[in-house]
Amino acid sequence: MAVLISPSLLAADLACLADEIARAEEGGCDTFHLDIMDYHFVPNLSFGPRMVETVRRLTDLPIDVHLMVTNPLDMIGPFASAGGASITVHTETLSDIPAAVEAIRTLGVGTGLSLRPDTPVGAVISHIERVDIILVMSVFPGFGGQSFMQSSYERIRCISEAAARLSSPLVLSVDGGVDCVNAPLLADAGANCLVAGTSIFRNHEAAANVRAMRNALGTP
Ligand code: DX5
Ligand code: ZN
Repeated sequence: MAVLISPSLLAADLACLADEIARAEEGGCDTFHLDIMDYHFVPNLSFGPRMVETVRRLTDLPIDVHLMVTNPLDMIGPFASAGGASITVHTETLSDIPAAVEAIRTLGVGTGLSLRPDTPVGAVISHIERVDIILVMSVFPGFGGQSFMQSSYERIRCISEAAARLSSPLVLSVDGGVDCVNAPLLADAGANCLVAGTSIFRNHEAAANVRAMRNALGTP
């Protein structure tokens, strides 16, 4: 299966957001990833629905909304209305995962579940058939530019094998410290979507950086 590349706009230069998005698209990225932080679930504050609306006007590619917030169910409606193609919520914030996934699906958008590096993979494996996306955090959520955690390979492999046993068409995404070096190893472990911020946007060369990641993956 082809591996999707999803640039995380948290690392983009917001002073020239339209150019950053256009360059990433020119490089051949597949989706855009938008990190929403509430200064409570994570110690950082980022974007609201208006940012999703803005990105929506700048690209036709799907936008995956990654909600790193304590009360995600209060926010899924506004982010779906703003144009998110899928909404990913954290298992650590949910008391009833099936109900939360259903609430997202009812809005007509894709459903995603994410987990912090210290949450056992069992927390998402039992929901593989319920969701469209599992987003494995390979850093502690909250900031771009952190170092990739090596323990993520085994976690991805474990979820990927479980998805294969169920013949699930799961999008298995990895987020945090992804670059051209670990990209092929992540694909080998079973990830089929790579979220990358700093490695794509670090130097206003998003087109070349997306192409370099695609080449590193060895796929057209
Ligand atoms: C981290 C966010 C990531 C972040 C990745 O909490 O969820 O999406 O933007 O950034 P890099 O690729 O710089 O680690
Ligand atoms: Zn993210």
